Amino acid sequence: MTHIVRIDASALSQGSESKKLADFFCEQFMQNHPNTQLTQHILAQTLPSHIDEAFIGAAYTPAHARTEQQKERLSYSDQHVQALKRADVLLISTPMYNFSLPSTLKAWLDNVTRVGETFKYDANGPEGLLNIPKVIVIVSSGGDYTQAPLNKMNFVEPYLTTILGFIGLHNVTFVNAPGLAMGEESKTRALNNAQQALLNLI
Ligand SMILES: Cc1cc2nc3c(=O)[nH]c(=O)nc-3n(C[C@H](O)[C@H](O)[C@H](O)COP(=O)(O)O)c2cc1C
Repeated sequence: MTHIVRIDASALSQGSESKKLADFFCEQFMQNHPNTQLTQHILAQTLPSHIDEAFIGAAYTPAHARTEQQKERLSYSDQHVQALKRADVLLISTPMYNFSLPSTLKAWLDNVTRVGETFKYDANGPEGLLNIPKVIVIVSSGGDYTQAPLNKMNFVEPYLTTILGFIGLHNVTFVNAPGLAMGEESKTRALNNAQQALLNLI
């Protein structure tokens, strides 16, 4: 049994290009691996909460000492952390919004970056605790910020590389679909290239 955890960050309920690419990957993957369990979270449908004082208090209280209220505050985070611990594949689909991540994806990452659960600090510094064999991030964007010099304006890939590495996921494959607002030819080329790159990952 292969367990895919899929996170979709587009705000669109219809017509999202990043979600369509994630659908494509899942369909192709499941044809090749029929014994697959898919857990999908559409962040725009069930918004992850932001870090607040209650979250910090609960997360930094040892598990055995947490009050019922603190356990309740961490329930979304716990559920997602446990799913990541069981995952064989993590698939994130996201647009670029204002040169960075949708705030929903940042909030989700804040929920799964948990001391003692997905990272720890010891004498050697930080250590990521997750180990997911395949991590794929699909990024769609209207412009093309994948190449120098404009890649200096791309805060999606550097941030995701850093935060996923911090929680132990060092081997992340990015599949970009850039230039989707740069004319039909550019869009068709980008989507075809992204589909081909996804097929190569199955
Ligand atoms: C609020 C908003 C902000 C955006 N910011 C950027 C941006 O900074 N750079 C860019 O290239 N495209 C930007 N875009 C375009 C999207 O990245 C592009 O339309 C992408 O395909 C959206 O993904 P989706 O189709 O999966 O929703 C933005 C779109 C929206 C709606």
